[in-house]
Amino acid sequence: MSEKKSYYQAYDERYKQVHQEGIQWFSDAPSEIVEQTIKQYHIPKQADILEIGCGEGRDAENLLNKGYHLLATDISAEAIGYCKEKFPQFQHNFCTLDCLNDTMQQKFDFIYAVAVLHMFVLDEDRQKFYQFIGSHLKESGVALIGTMGDGSFESCSNPDDAFALQSRTHEQTGKEMMLASTSCRVVNFTTFHDEIQKAGLELLESGMTCVPPDFPVMMVAVVKGRRD
Ligand SMILES: C[S@@+](CC[C@H](N)C(=O)[O-])C[C@H]1O[C@@H](n2cnc3c(N)ncnc32)[C@H](O)[C@@H]1O
Repeated sequence: MSEKKSYYQAYDERYKQVHQEGIQWFSDAPSEIVEQTIKQYHIPKQADILEIGCGEGRDAENLLNKGYHLLATDISAEAIGYCKEKFPQFQHNFCTLDCLNDTMQQKFDFIYAVAVLHMFVLDEDRQKFYQFIGSHLKESGVALIGTMGDGSFESCSNPDDAFALQSRTHEQTGKEMMLASTSCRVVNFTTFHDEIQKAGLELLESGMTCVPPDFPVMMVAVVKGRRD
């Protein structure tokens, strides 16, 4: 009997639907904010870096090509298989990980997750996401969290609809496709900051950025574990 999938696994379905057409869902353009944060917080090349929710690998590819010591993870076996095939020279740098239910022995100097938090609709899942980050950061480590939103608007999809098919336009080709809806919860800065505080993380800074063409507006926060 097959196990029921959680709503936040719906991207696995979308990736399969798109990859079987010989295309990928996201662009190859890396998120500038990741490298900006690495520079701002003086993260050296030999630091241990973890990406949560790497998708089709655009940020991982950029950092790995520059010699960073990165482990790129995603809950989607389809996404990880795709990355291993697309970047065979880095295949050992990719592995599946469910950040809500798995734990790792290793701790990291820098963790980043671009456009992953908004996938988590339920409060308990969002808290698990922050707590995973808190428990996998080294004492001096920092994490960058990017989530869809303009800072003030709030909305929430129904998790029961995550696998329902929806018509979407593929950005690069303009092709209309019927794809898994996936899940999305957009929060404002007050909620974002409250959640970070509740999870026992210290907010170092937050603001707005964009990751064109995929995420025209994105809220970001840099956090570290609180040790008081
Ligand atoms: C909107 S996509 C963003 C992908 C990539 N970061 C990018 O910017 O192109 C969100 C990703 O989070 C992954 N994801 C969802 N739930 C997850 C979980 N519990 N653990 C790890 N990754 C998860 C999805 O499979 C998907 O690849």
